[in-house]
Amino acid sequence: METDRPEPIIPRKQFIDLIEEMELDDFATINFKCLKYVSGNISMTELFYIVMAVSLFRPKHIMEFGTFNGRTTLNMAINYEGAIITTVDLPRNKKHRTKFPLEDKGNLRKLDETGYVGNKAKLWQGQDPEIVGRIKQIWEDSAKIQFEKYRDEIDFLFIDASHSYENCKNDSYNGHKIIKKNGIIFWHDYAGWPGVTEALNEYYLEQGEPDNMFWFNDTSIVGRFFNESKKT
Ligand SMILES: C[S@@+](CC[C@H](N)C(=O)[O-])C[C@H]1O[C@@H](n2cnc3c(N)ncnc32)[C@H](O)[C@@H]1O
Repeated sequence: METDRPEPIIPRKQFIDLIEEMELDDFATINFKCLKYVSGNISMTELFYIVMAVSLFRPKHIMEFGTFNGRTTLNMAINYEGAIITTVDLPRNKKHRTKFPLEDKGNLRKLDETGYVGNKAKLWQGQDPEIVGRIKQIWEDSAKIQFEKYRDEIDFLFIDASHSYENCKNDSYNGHKIIKKNGIIFWHDYAGWPGVTEALNEYYLEQGEPDNMFWFNDTSIVGRFFNESKKT
């Protein structure tokens, strides 16, 4: 169920506090490429926290739902040379039908000439072949990818595809199938898009208000740091 403006309920957290609490390396080096923001990208602060997470946790297999122009993809790739990244965006075929309706106005506004925003040139193209070689693009509806292939395989998942309630809820629980037991899921657009907020609020309550799930200050990012148990 989707309401107009659901209130966020996930506890807030200062990202930097995690470094101390988890005894992580606060001298970690982070790198950035392509600082140019285009509408549809995450903010600079959000990019900073994502690349910091990649640099600190060194996830071997990263998955991203919602490639867009690949700015986050590229920046994740350059922050851990041991990572491979599988990034998913909608197929090029105009006639492709998604499992759930794509109702978000943001995506509709940005449709490109082939019908989908995800077809634009990717920012990693033309970069160092070592980086390009670690990025794999999948053209598929995130609700339709073959999750069995990735079961318990993903160390870090970034969910930033469709903002509809149905897609976000579905992406979250499919994320459970593929995330490793000590993996991390980040979601974007919490407290911004009503569908995402509603879906994540429900997910948070259904999961028993886990103490490893936070909404990071100054961002629309929610992160969950799994430990031994994953509820399905
Ligand atoms: C907000 S943009 C992602 C921004 C990107 N993660 C970044 O950090 O710059 C959302 C992207 O998700 C894609 N998308 C929307 N619905 C999708 C779906 N059901 N499956 C896969 N990708 C989807 C859109 O085509 C668009 O490229």
